[in-house]
Amino acid sequence: MVTEKEVELIGRILVDPKQTLTARFRALFTLRNLGGPEAIEWISQAFADDSALLKHELAYCLGQMQDERATPVLVDVLQDTRQEPMVRHEAGEALGAIGNPKVLDLLKRYSNDPVIEVAETCQLAVKRLEWLQENKTKSPGDSPYSSVDPAPPAEEQDVGKLKEVLLDDSQPLFERYRAMFALRNLGGEAAVLALADGLRCGSALFRHEIAYVLGQMQHEACVPQLTASLASVAESPMVRHECAEALGAIAKASCLSTLKTYAQDKEQVVRESCVVALDMYDYENSSEFQYADGLSKLKSLN
Ligand SMILES: [Fe+2]
Ligand SMILES: [Fe+2]
Repeated sequence: MVTEKEVELIGRILVDPKQTLTARFRALFTLRNLGGPEAIEWISQAFADDSALLKHELAYCLGQMQDERATPVLVDVLQDTRQEPMVRHEAGEALGAIGNPKVLDLLKRYSNDPVIEVAETCQLAVKRLEWLQENKTKSPGDSPYSSVDPAPPAEEQDVGKLKEVLLDDSQPLFERYRAMFALRNLGGEAAVLALADGLRCGSALFRHEIAYVLGQMQHEACVPQLTASLASVAESPMVRHECAEALGAIAKASCLSTLKTYAQDKEQVVRESCVVALDMYDYENSSEFQYADGLSKLKSLN
């Protein structure tokens, strides 16, 4: 059992800007795994920070926790135009992940947000909520990565056909996301390479999700494509960030020098992503028991 005091000690690490970013990330993931109202309260407090990377991850975790009690803070973040687009995007996506139709009208309104990443995210979240309503008897399909995804996987199982939908800029984004998650669930090198081709498609939101999915798959075949996108200064920082984290998750020797190079990037969000990715790299190449180690660290101090 975890006591309120322990949650508080971990929460204090998360909200303390003097802690390293990697310690704060590990504290965040510990709180996400613990769940409950106190964990949500600590995570909510950290939205006052100035790291867009940290804040977008807060929103991501709140969505993955699928706890209604996070709805008010996520609504505030989505509506707060002082928050970075990447943070507002993740708040919109999290509202879709929680899946309560009461935010449908709000999401419809923000489907026309002038920030394209926010608008597209809300369009997808609306589609996800509508899909859930229309398919009450079906579940969105369990993700083999135990993530709550912004779209259910397509039922199609043929890599070639899925790839066609994925790369077709004239198809609705929701259908292309469905193809993306179906390819991820199928797995294997052909699916990985099809997904990696998506890193050259039109929407930055779409490309960042491709990179996210490639990070989940942890397949070395897409290291060159992820490296190229991270290296491209013309690419959106939101996409470059996700490529860095994917390379950290793949954690092969071929990723290490790239991450070290871009840990000095001009863009804060890219720099910070590489620092977090290098920590994930170390974790993946160590015998550490868990990444979200806030609790075991506390216990070892006692
Ligand atoms: Fe995202
Ligand atoms: Fe991200």
